[in-house]
Amino acid sequence: MGVFSASPAIFHHPPSFTPTPAPHPEGLMAGCERPFVLHFSTMTVDGRIASSTRYSMLSCRFDLERLYALRSHVDAVMVGAGTVLADNPRLARRLKPGRHYRVVVDCRLRVPPDARVFDDSMPSILVTCRDAPRERLSEIAGRGVEIIEAGEAGRIELREALRTLLESYGVRRVLVEGGGVLAYSLYRERLVDELRVTVAPVLFAAGRSIVDDPEGRGFPDWGSSPRLQLVYTETCPCGNCVHMVYRVDSDCCPAASPPPRPLRELLE
Ligand SMILES: NC(=O)c1ccc[n+]([C@@H]2O[C@H](COP(=O)([O-])OP(=O)(O)OC[C@H]3O[C@@H](n4cnc5c(N)ncnc54)[C@H](OP(=O)(O)O)[C@@H]3O)[C@@H](O)[C@H]2O)c1
Repeated sequence: MGVFSASPAIFHHPPSFTPTPAPHPEGLMAGCERPFVLHFSTMTVDGRIASSTRYSMLSCRFDLERLYALRSHVDAVMVGAGTVLADNPRLARRLKPGRHYRVVVDCRLRVPPDARVFDDSMPSILVTCRDAPRERLSEIAGRGVEIIEAGEAGRIELREALRTLLESYGVRRVLVEGGGVLAYSLYRERLVDELRVTVAPVLFAAGRSIVDDPEGRGFPDWGSSPRLQLVYTETCPCGNCVHMVYRVDSDCCPAASPPPRPLRELLE
């Protein structure tokens, strides 16, 4: 039996379930000095991941399963400070046994040391700026959290941080779970290799977008947008969501890479 028998109440599939493809196993070009970066998000039809009140409960049970399955296939799960402050997630591994690093990107150290993501259930890494407040930093480090310092003056050098994750922690695949501001920083630097997005049948009309530039510039036209190549679509077994996988033309992973292998193949 595959991992889907782990918790029948949540992970039962109707027979029509179409497996989601697994993250690309060797997606990066030779010589690329960073991990493969996969961005997963669940958004409304109008592209929001959270409403004006920060409400963000968008996933059906099948979508949660997709997310948990992906966590089983990566070495690190990464989120921004805004997501930790809003949701206080633990970013646990829920299907296959194993461990991944939980990585929080937080330049100003807004995330409190007692956040669940820093608990001792799995290793955690804080990516912050070199000029981050020292006292707060030692409090967080005191919880056993590893620290990567990259960038300064409010801007984390994400490429440098990813290289450190690869070189010092052996992280070959990173799953970025949001939020929109972190995602925008990564796309801007062409550091995202694959996007997996689920569209939930909701409209928020305001709030955080799946990729969000807080300075309001964004990518102003088709030409400046990251190039996306659709490689997989699935109508969710819930009947009301759509899941899509895009290969993203990044600095390390040309959009013409071969399609991913089916997830079930890797899980069994
Ligand atoms: N539907 C979904 O799938 C989903 C998934 C995740 C989150 N969410 C929702 O999204 C919202 C949070 O998203 P968000 O966009 O507000 O926050 P976010 O992307 O999680 O975090 C943004 C913060 O990350 C830090 N950061 C990211 N990139 C940086 C860079 N290059 N340099 C310096 N700092 C950087 C900054 O922290 P500092 O300001 O501390 O320096 C920045 O304010 C929440 O409401 C959450 O519930 C929804």
